[in-house]
Amino acid sequence: MNIIKLDATPSTNDFLKALLTNQFVENFTVVTAENQTSGRGQMGAKWEVESGKNLTFSVLVKDVLVEITSIFHLNVLVAVSITEALQRFTISNLAIKWPNDILAENKKIAGVLIENSLKSNGEIFSVVGIGLNVNQKNFDDLPKATSLSCILNHDLDKEAVLVSIIQNLKRNVALLQIGDYDKFWEAYNQKLFKKGIPMPFEDKNGVRFMGIIQGVTANGKLEVLLDNDSLKTFDIKEVQMLY
Ligand code: BTN
Repeated sequence: MNIIKLDATPSTNDFLKALLTNQFVENFTVVTAENQTSGRGQMGAKWEVESGKNLTFSVLVKDVLVEITSIFHLNVLVAVSITEALQRFTISNLAIKWPNDILAENKKIAGVLIENSLKSNGEIFSVVGIGLNVNQKNFDDLPKATSLSCILNHDLDKEAVLVSIIQNLKRNVALLQIGDYDKFWEAYNQKLFKKGIPMPFEDKNGVRFMGIIQGVTANGKLEVLLDNDSLKTFDIKEVQMLY
């Protein structure tokens, strides 16, 4: 496993993307940082965690999107790969909050930011950025977040967790490339947070409504049953779950 270990960098996603523009980078190369000074999250959010305690890393996945029809398939694969690794470390109460937050005991334990780029030679590079809370204990400022050590009551070897995620990701990408997508899809939908439970949402205009999540469609839209019994699908920019 090719792992580039950094003490500090603005963002491991940005470091890996810059590396790609300068040199050949092997598939599944990993960049980790003990501290990110400008860590980025979904939808322009920041990713700020305690320095040295957690996993913040990016993995290069080359050309997987050529084999598949939807960019969302890689999100599904990554989310499932993380939950499989966490299960190995005996975390059981896991859920995937659409599109790809990983929750343990109803609190966020990991987030994923995937950035794709098309090279001039036609190759598609996906930089898969993962932030996973491992040994951080204090979440006073983030009451909806948790870590592996908060749940297990002991610290973990961060590298062992990292290796487990990368091994799962490699195996699952290989399975995806031979067309074995359905089982990832099923695993994702099976773990979908709040599926089948009435809950409040807010649309992009700030209008609140109640709905029941039915599942996620093949192209990554959230399917919600509304109060008037109609089904509506939303993409990530169109709706926010209020929980
Ligand atoms: C989210 O939940 O909003 C996604 C968070 C993704 C954070 C990771 S940490 C490693 C990689 N580098 C970044 O700047 N972001 C991702």
